[in-house]
Amino acid sequence: MQIRDRTNSNHKPVRKAVIPVAGLGTRLLPITKSVPKELLPVVDVPAIQVVVEECVNAGIEEVIFITGRGKGGIEDHFDYNFELEKILERRGKLEELERVRSISQLIRTIAVRQKKPLGLGHAVLCARDVVEDEPFVVLLPDDLIGSEPSVTCQLIDVYEKYGQGVVSIMPVPEEEVSRYGIVTGENWAPSLHRVRSIVEKPDPEISPSNLAVIGRYLLPPAIFGFLEDQKPDESGEIQLTDALSKLARERALVGYEFTGRRHDIGDKLGFLTANISYALQRDDLGPKLLHYLRKKVVEADEQQSH
Ligand code: UTP
Repeated sequence: MQIRDRTNSNHKPVRKAVIPVAGLGTRLLPITKSVPKELLPVVDVPAIQVVVEECVNAGIEEVIFITGRGKGGIEDHFDYNFELEKILERRGKLEELERVRSISQLIRTIAVRQKKPLGLGHAVLCARDVVEDEPFVVLLPDDLIGSEPSVTCQLIDVYEKYGQGVVSIMPVPEEEVSRYGIVTGENWAPSLHRVRSIVEKPDPEISPSNLAVIGRYLLPPAIFGFLEDQKPDESGEIQLTDALSKLARERALVGYEFTGRRHDIGDKLGFLTANISYALQRDDLGPKLLHYLRKKVVEADEQQSH
């Protein structure tokens, strides 16, 4: 794995990542009744591992999981499993042993419990005592984004240049704006926007733009003060969007149009396309899967023409 070099930026280094995993995952029910969605596989790797590897590769030193009921398996995945290691050793399965062990050695992890799922803003606020007075990244593990360098690296690059909070944004089709936080602001350099505010899930007719905030953020510690003052919305949740808008108004916030292909694996179709897309990139599976998909397309075309 290639790890990002730290540059000589004048700004405080970004060492910590917050990954909220306390949500209920209702869009993926019934599987999420008993299995955390973050542990669902992307081919043979849990989605959360893909996101943690993105942190490691960006030079992050500590990952803070915001966990909830039934999510203990996520911490276990990044811990040693001595029993399993012993069995693999005894059976001479050394390659598997190395794979299992390397996950436990990836990065230092800390878990903070969010006792009630009171919203993404509340989940981020739960990390305050561990993050302390440092800039940090937030990664939503629902969003898998294939890109080189990773979106987390891209956000850190922007931060190191401008020293401000940065949110990842991407254009979405007009009919989908009501599913996202949508940015208002001005484009001041290629891929860079000065964010004025963020409107949560607007109607397409009144949406200020088609630029949606995606699940990668780089935030200054000042965000905690805004989150603390934040009142819950009608559904009783504390939204991150509202605190980001305040940060944009009272300090500064950069919107960065990242490059990369994003899959929302918290959604059934996104979960399937992520699996197909990641499998197609693998030498051991890609060619055979492509052959299968081509056959399926031909069959579907034939069925349609009958
Ligand atoms: P989502 O709203 O996309 O996830 O939250 P969800 O609530 O788990 O899923 P659905 O909509 O019911 O299917 C985005 C991220 O914020 C976390 C979730 O775990 C997810 O990673 N989250 C959300 C929390 O940690 N706590 C919360 O109170 C809410």
